[in-house]
Amino acid sequence: MQQTFYEAVGGAETFRKLTARFYEEVAKDDIVRPLYPEEDLGPAERRMRMFLEQYWGGPHTYSDERGHPRLRMRHNPFKIGPLERDAWLRCMHTAIASIDSDTLDDAHRRALTDYMEMAAASMVNSAF
Ligand code: HEM
Repeated sequence: MQQTFYEAVGGAETFRKLTARFYEEVAKDDIVRPLYPEEDLGPAERRMRMFLEQYWGGPHTYSDERGHPRLRMRHNPFKIGPLERDAWLRCMHTAIASIDSDTLDDAHRRALTDYMEMAAASMVNSAF
């Protein structure tokens, strides 16, 4: 059977590291951090991790708990313009860069980065 992307990049441990580093960056970011309604970023980190694991062929815990992702709809309460998109992507690029190349080879790194750029662009809901 063919390996999923999730398995090919090291499974749960890689997604744990990626989202942990991403939220470390979010916590320091003056543009993105204020958008998060909760003081504790832990639950948001967990939702993001479950979503990404599911998207890349891992466990379906996200939809078991949250239903259909409907990410654009779920982001409607937050103003996401070009600045917020770019700040979010900066955090994500840093998180991806923190995964070593034995775990994430060039092709998988490219695929993950392309996806994040596409997904961030599709979440924009404000022109400014
Ligand atoms: C939730 C901001 C893009 C995936 C959230 C939340 C905020 C936020 C404030 C609520 C926190 C919470 O879950 O408690 C942003 C901003 C983005 C962005 C400023 C800039 C473009 C993305 C992208 C993805 C994503 C590109 C996926 C690749 C998620 C997920 C949740 C979430 C899975 C939890 C949804 C749920 O089940 O409730 N985001 N987000 N976000 N975001 Fe984003």
